[in-house]
Amino acid sequence: MLDIALMNISPDISFVRLERSDFALVRHIEVAPEQIIYCGTVDMAFASDEAGIDLYAVRAAGTCVGFFKIDLKYPKTQDFARDGDLGLRAFMIDRWRQGSGLGSATLRALPEFLRKTYPDAQAIVLTVNIRNQVAVRRYLSTGFTATGDVHDGGHAGLQYVMRQMIAPPRSLHISRTMSD
Ligand SMILES: CC(C)(COP(=O)(O)OP(=O)(O)OC[C@H]1O[C@@H](n2cnc3c(N)ncnc32)[C@H](O)[C@@H]1OP(=O)(O)O)[C@@H](O)C(=O)NCCC(=O)NCCS
Repeated sequence: MLDIALMNISPDISFVRLERSDFALVRHIEVAPEQIIYCGTVDMAFASDEAGIDLYAVRAAGTCVGFFKIDLKYPKTQDFARDGDLGLRAFMIDRWRQGSGLGSATLRALPEFLRKTYPDAQAIVLTVNIRNQVAVRRYLSTGFTATGDVHDGGHAGLQYVMRQMIAPPRSLHISRTMSD
């Protein structure tokens, strides 16, 4: 378990990198039954042995209150993703803690955390069900932009694709002048 505190970004939020053996730390995190179609469950995430996925807990005031996966293979598996994209998947805040600002605080803290943790990454990319308006509003109010792509999520339905840059474009060349 790797605990990374982000005291200078959001005093109450930290991220905990989870190993498969850390299930007990997050097994209590649940969403409402009707939300499972949007994010799955923590049990499902641990049961799936997908390669290229890093698991994280969101911790607030010493308690694990949320969960997400970072998908490192998104550019290879999703046609809307580009090289340098990190996939944000299975993001959830425990149902008993939703509506108190934790989701927004997490999303605001994520870019700096991911920039430091994955120095080669360029952007965070996610899909969100078009019916999941609470999540859509959260993403749009925390720096994500809809790309205009609509992804067919199969039985889950249509999903907006959203992206947030976390690094300057690789082609951007910053030259220094003599007066710098
Ligand atoms: C989407 C999700 C992560 C948002 O997390 P959250 O902690 O509930 O989000 P916030 O508390 O920051 O904001 C949610 C709402 O509560 C309101 N809110 C924020 N702070 C609040 C507070 N202190 N008191 C009361 N309400 C508050 C916000 O205004 C927002 O309302 P709005 O959507 O009408 O604008 C969470 O609802 C969730 O886990 N949903 C199920 C899984 C899911 O859909 N994941 C997304 C997959 S793409």
